[in-house]
Amino acid sequence: MISQALSNARTYEEEKGPQIPKEQRPLFHLTPFVGWMNDPNGFSVYNGMYHLFYQYYPFEKKWGPMHWGHAVSKDLLHWDYLPAVIAPDITEDISGCFSGGAVELEDGKHLVIYTGVGPMKDGIAVQTQCLAISENGSDYVKYAGNPVIDHTSLPDGGNGYDFRDPKIWKEADGSYTCVTVEKKADGNGRVVRFNSPDGYSWSCLGVLAENDGTFGKMWECPDFFPLDGTYVLMASPMDMEKNDRYYSGNGNLCLTGDFDEASGTFIPHTDQPVDCGIDFYATQSICTEDGRRIMLAWMQNWDTITFTGESLDWMGQITVPRELHISDGVLIQTPIRELEPLRHDPVHYEQVLSGDMTLPGIQGRTIDLLIELRPDETDLKTFEIRFAEDGKHYTSLKYRPDEKTLTFDRSSSGTTRNLAHIRSCHTEPVKGVLSLRILLDRFSCEVFINGGRQVMSHVLYTDTAAEGISFHVNGCVPAEITKYDLSSQD
Ligand code: FRU
Repeated sequence: MISQALSNARTYEEEKGPQIPKEQRPLFHLTPFVGWMNDPNGFSVYNGMYHLFYQYYPFEKKWGPMHWGHAVSKDLLHWDYLPAVIAPDITEDISGCFSGGAVELEDGKHLVIYTGVGPMKDGIAVQTQCLAISENGSDYVKYAGNPVIDHTSLPDGGNGYDFRDPKIWKEADGSYTCVTVEKKADGNGRVVRFNSPDGYSWSCLGVLAENDGTFGKMWECPDFFPLDGTYVLMASPMDMEKNDRYYSGNGNLCLTGDFDEASGTFIPHTDQPVDCGIDFYATQSICTEDGRRIMLAWMQNWDTITFTGESLDWMGQITVPRELHISDGVLIQTPIRELEPLRHDPVHYEQVLSGDMTLPGIQGRTIDLLIELRPDETDLKTFEIRFAEDGKHYTSLKYRPDEKTLTFDRSSSGTTRNLAHIRSCHTEPVKGVLSLRILLDRFSCEVFINGGRQVMSHVLYTDTAAEGISFHVNGCVPAEITKYDLSSQD
């Protein structure tokens, strides 16, 4: 028996989801079955399939009482929708089922751990960590013993109610660990760690890391994992203030450093934004069976949620999954290698670009475009590529060697909203080459710079018939360009 709330959601999505034509969704980025999506949740492998859940409000294209939507995939690019799994229907989560994680238990069950937001009282709702369990990977039953973690097990110093976003993984010794975020009394976030022998009974291992106000205020959606001989802590800080490396608003943060097992604390050595684009928040990662650390995120941002595709019946996308590495403290992200079989019909150019030009065959809205520039070999003033172009609209990416900045600009993309549409990041050629890998998937543009040492992710709602690409070069620059069309194999 499922609750009325979950049944309502499933009935609604069964009716509306299939009405959305395939062409009105991206080719390989996950969107909500219908309505609203924010954070990716419960990213895990279960019964040989990748499972990805998401913060979901099916009934409207805006945030509402949070449910969890569900999709499964074999390659992280072709997704099949399954019915919504949880809805706000018990006292502990009556105001919403917030973000969390999932893991396969020793006994073969799939365990979801999520944040239940309790009844609203005097403008405050207490957040606790709750469970839902499945034996088949599609029906999830809430645990009778919910909540399994509440604020009484937290160390002193918290505000007593903001406590959420458990990310769970299995340890080598067979136990389970989760990291959560909690708001301290001073308004800044901290990451608190818990361990459980079985996934059901949890004890607090203390504070892993805390924000002293350097990176925004409250942190959301933590993740913590070893990678290439170091440890990585990711979080999404709220209320960031702009400085020379971070933008204001809801940001994203990657800290690398050491994990001191004895004290259970993380000692950060480097910090960097995970993604310097406008639309990126709430990362979540897994370690795949072949040992790859793969991360994805909500390709949107709380500060830009009024920017939607007006004719589309969904809102919110998940980034392309990215393989992660750390090299000299720098986070390297590359689109998962599963994307390669989707590439076909390469078009290749090797030539000096100058003035305003188009290149026959270089166009499209579902493409993987590789550009290598050698800006130091000539007198280049600016290099600009415009894409998603028709007679009236375009989006641009412009490199200025004098300032060493790469600027994304979608203000001429047809948007009717006044919000952040321009974003620059400081970048320079590596060994004389500036490399850009631009993934276009109908409603988004992700730019992997210099082999993924920086990434900029953006959504885009220009009519998909706008497929033009043109180059605008002040001065000249030697370039190598390869474009692949992407298409699904089914
Ligand atoms: C992050 C977040 C989480 C919360 C969820 C609610 O985007 O605010 O902290 O669990 O979204 O939808």
